Amino acid sequence: MQDPHQEFFDLVASEWDLMFTSEDLERLSHIVDKLGIEKDMNVIDLGCGTGILFDLIRRKVGLSGSVTGVDFSLQMVLKAHRNFPFSNVNCIDGDVIALPLTSNYFDMGVAFSAFPYFSDKQQAVDEVHRVLKPGARFFIIHLQSSKELSDIHHKIGGVVANDTLPPADQLTTLLSNSKFTDILIDDQPGHYLASATAVKD
Ligand SMILES: C[S@@+](CC[C@H](N)C(=O)[O-])C[C@H]1O[C@@H](n2cnc3c(N)ncnc32)[C@H](O)[C@@H]1O
Repeated sequence: MQDPHQEFFDLVASEWDLMFTSEDLERLSHIVDKLGIEKDMNVIDLGCGTGILFDLIRRKVGLSGSVTGVDFSLQMVLKAHRNFPFSNVNCIDGDVIALPLTSNYFDMGVAFSAFPYFSDKQQAVDEVHRVLKPGARFFIIHLQSSKELSDIHHKIGGVVANDTLPPADQLTTLLSNSKFTDILIDDQPGHYLASATAVKD
């Protein structure tokens, strides 16, 4: 059965880029600056949409690194391809709960404004862990607190009405179950940043 989010995001894809204000882009840029992205890194962007993070990341990793976006809305992926036709940017039409990607490849994972929509969060986190190299860090990023995000989703209603960021203790359990450690969660008005390190035996 198709996840109803797929159709929802397909329908909004053509107008998606208009949602971001220059202030949003400025704040995002500051956050991405602090993630520790370095030249040559391969970074995966989960639920990448139209690729709002691609330019910020691809400039940091350079031509010998890469950014790979994954999104299950085909319309978002097609727009991302049109927006960022660069050799170090890949965008894949796929579901985060079954990533069509090799294990132990990525140096960092990011999910900007996407985690609440993943229908099976444990499976998504398991998959992120699988594709990350040992010691790689995973970041969940929002420009709102978890409470602000829930309020926005309630107002929008429909398929996103109940999409929330898990409370800190539940997110910690999800990440720990998938063998992430060093879990940090910063949840405050106008900002949400959770991060964790992939540990492998
Ligand atoms: C709110 S949008 C954010 C897109 C982009 N990160 C941005 O901030 O512009 C959430 C995205 O997550 C994608 N998404 C939701 N669940 C997904 C899943 N299970 N697998 C892949 N993508 C998913 C949606 O298709 C949508 O494009």
